[in-house]
Amino acid sequence: MSDRTVEERYREFVATSFVERVEPVVPVWARGARVRGEDGREYVDAFSGISVVNAGHAHPRVVEAARRQMEAYLHVQSYTYHVPVVAELAERLAQVTPGRLRKTFFGNGGAEGIETALRMAKAYTGRHEFVSLTHSFHGRSLATLSLTGNSLRRRRGGPFMPGVAFAPAPYAYRWPHPATPEEVAREAAAAVEETIRTQTSDDVAAFIAEPVMGEGGIIVPPTAYLRYVREILDRRGILFIADEVQTGFGRTGRLFAVEHSGVEPDILVMAKGIADGLPLSAVIARPEIADALKPGEHLSTFGGNPVSCAAALANLEVMEEEGLPARAAALGERAIGRLRDALAGCETVGEVRGLGLMIGVELVEDRETKAPARAIARAVRERSRERGVLIGVGGMGGNVLRIQPPLVIEEADLERVVATVAEAVAEAESQARAHSAAGAR
Ligand SMILES: Cc1ncc(COP(=O)(O)O)c(C=O)c1O
Repeated sequence: MSDRTVEERYREFVATSFVERVEPVVPVWARGARVRGEDGREYVDAFSGISVVNAGHAHPRVVEAARRQMEAYLHVQSYTYHVPVVAELAERLAQVTPGRLRKTFFGNGGAEGIETALRMAKAYTGRHEFVSLTHSFHGRSLATLSLTGNSLRRRRGGPFMPGVAFAPAPYAYRWPHPATPEEVAREAAAAVEETIRTQTSDDVAAFIAEPVMGEGGIIVPPTAYLRYVREILDRRGILFIADEVQTGFGRTGRLFAVEHSGVEPDILVMAKGIADGLPLSAVIARPEIADALKPGEHLSTFGGNPVSCAAALANLEVMEEEGLPARAAALGERAIGRLRDALAGCETVGEVRGLGLMIGVELVEDRETKAPARAIARAVRERSRERGVLIGVGGMGGNVLRIQPPLVIEEADLERVVATVAEAVAEAESQARAHSAAGAR
């Protein structure tokens, strides 16, 4: 063992580029919504490892299922042999996902899942182009970055894959003119059609969207939006790929976020919350779409890892038995209301929004211009952590606080998150004001 600290070894040996500075927390233990650092400090986790441990850190049922599978075997190759847990999980996913979705391809993470969905869509339709949304995030591989409508995330990633067009996100808070949710839904859906007409060669295989945009800053589309888009896609024989990597597994108050709209996707991609912390992705499609990929055309060596699949089965049981989606809906609604009240006096708060336990607080320099308050968002995350609460930051301007705790979070802990974030915003705001007053002097 070297005598250097974990942080020093990170700096020297770990290639990190997600944030400018990795959070100064060294976790040694985590359960439910609590994380303990090596200094003995305990935090309330309101970010879930980027929205992953929906059933809570190290849920005993998930750990036990993984342990039992590990004792049998870790890996045999899930596309070469008939692995029992893979069969069982695939059947379960067909039961719990909407509509006619039935056949699943398993990979290891979100980006791989999206890549698979793109291939399936091309193979099935025989077409080659995609329509995505501005402000979206779909991963960091070349194809998924090419579908990502956020320059902050795409920086130095180009040149990108050709054949991708972007329609404007259904982002009510930043819609170019004052509009009701119904107007935003109609106009944003019409913009999808306009994008297809004006920016593609009419060779569009699929439209891809997150039912609630996560990295883009917790953008919740008006409920009717996906329904209107679906009508447009159906008229043109274009598939709908729902990227539920971040919204799946109870996060928004339903098992899958598309359920809020009643729209049935042709392909649905899951990852993050699927196995409560073990790596796995699942791409479920109508059978004729999944079968469009022919033998030899697609594979993933570790895809459908048996330990991850066993964990995913236990995770689904926990979701159902503990009623986690409904819990997320109830706790989320209350937390959003409490946050709105607690932040009412803060000038930098542009909007508090969310669905279930996927909550965003958009911070702006000025409520008129809506200029993103990036530095304040960063300060709020830091101050919250200093007070023992872990949150995330997202949005194209890096100015949206993200509150996405495990769905099992205790009510008292969620109250603490709300109170801490409100205090941190008030403090960061007054410090920023003092700073600019000093600068003006
Ligand atoms: C909506 C969405 N899609 C895809 C991804 C990529 O997932 P991964 O990081 O597992 O590749 C993410 C990750 O944040 C995501 O939020």
